[in-house]
Amino acid sequence: MVENKSSDSFFVELDDSSWSEALDVLVPLIHPVDQDATRIWFAFWPLHLLRIVQESENLDQMEQRLELRGSFRLEEQLDSSVDFLFGSRYWSEVKEAVRSQARSLTSPEGGLADQIRATTRALASSLQVPESHLTGITAVAWMARRQVGPDVFSESFARPVPKRSSPDQILKDRAKKRGGWLGFLRTVDARHTVVFNEKEKRSFFKAIHGQDVSMASARDPRDFRSIDLRRTEGPIPFQCRTGTCGTCWIGVLSGKENLNPISEWEKDRLKVFGYDFGLSDGETHPPIRLSCQVQCLGNLSVTVAPWNGILNVQRFDVDRAASES
Ligand code: FES
Repeated sequence: MVENKSSDSFFVELDDSSWSEALDVLVPLIHPVDQDATRIWFAFWPLHLLRIVQESENLDQMEQRLELRGSFRLEEQLDSSVDFLFGSRYWSEVKEAVRSQARSLTSPEGGLADQIRATTRALASSLQVPESHLTGITAVAWMARRQVGPDVFSESFARPVPKRSSPDQILKDRAKKRGGWLGFLRTVDARHTVVFNEKEKRSFFKAIHGQDVSMASARDPRDFRSIDLRRTEGPIPFQCRTGTCGTCWIGVLSGKENLNPISEWEKDRLKVFGYDFGLSDGETHPPIRLSCQVQCLGNLSVTVAPWNGILNVQRFDVDRAASES
């Protein structure tokens, strides 16, 4: 199927900062259940990463130089990449809506956020669901199409998606798991629950109050290596435990206020690794964190980043040279 070229060129010309500005407009319009999930998806899949891969003349060398590990190609996991969003239950409909809009657009009017809102509005009306339930997943779909191209994007999506809880119910359940308003009273002796896949019942581990999340994860004795070679001990990959390798990054879907505020060091590391898409400097509890740098002070729901690496490698080399001198 040949889709309209002028809408493609409109999207191809947009860089990470254009998408970031659009997200600033859209996030307040997204239902709270998916506000951080949408930001996390965009941080996991920055255009910057795609460009590095596309512009590389020698992929093996590039992977080594950037210390890229895990699954960093969106086209290989397009449909599963959205699993942690509430809006994923509408993924096949959203994909179809984006596909059909891309085909009919001759000259997109307005900016990127306007384009995404127009798709959302039309789909919300046809599905009879609030626009806020679809805004995040629609933004993700447009970006996904931009990254994988129209052909891969249009491949069929046949996985059954359960549509059980409402977004308000999910938020209530998460709040209950966070300990409700008495949660702050459970301190020193407390053991908190860290869920790492909301869709699977047994996907959680326990953390002692104040323990760093990567350490708590490493105590989970189950085998995770068979699903991801980076997960040598526990469900969250890690290496250095000092914030210097970038292996352990996570998205915090719920409970980010149950972590210590982000330090200037951790913030700076997120920039060096290239994990800082859409994060603002003034934010004390962003949804992207390094699990070795966060202490668990309450229950959490997190999602593990599918890849890790050092995208800002020149800056990394400067830091390393300075520390060795
Ligand atoms: S384990 Fe290396 S940055 Fe966290």
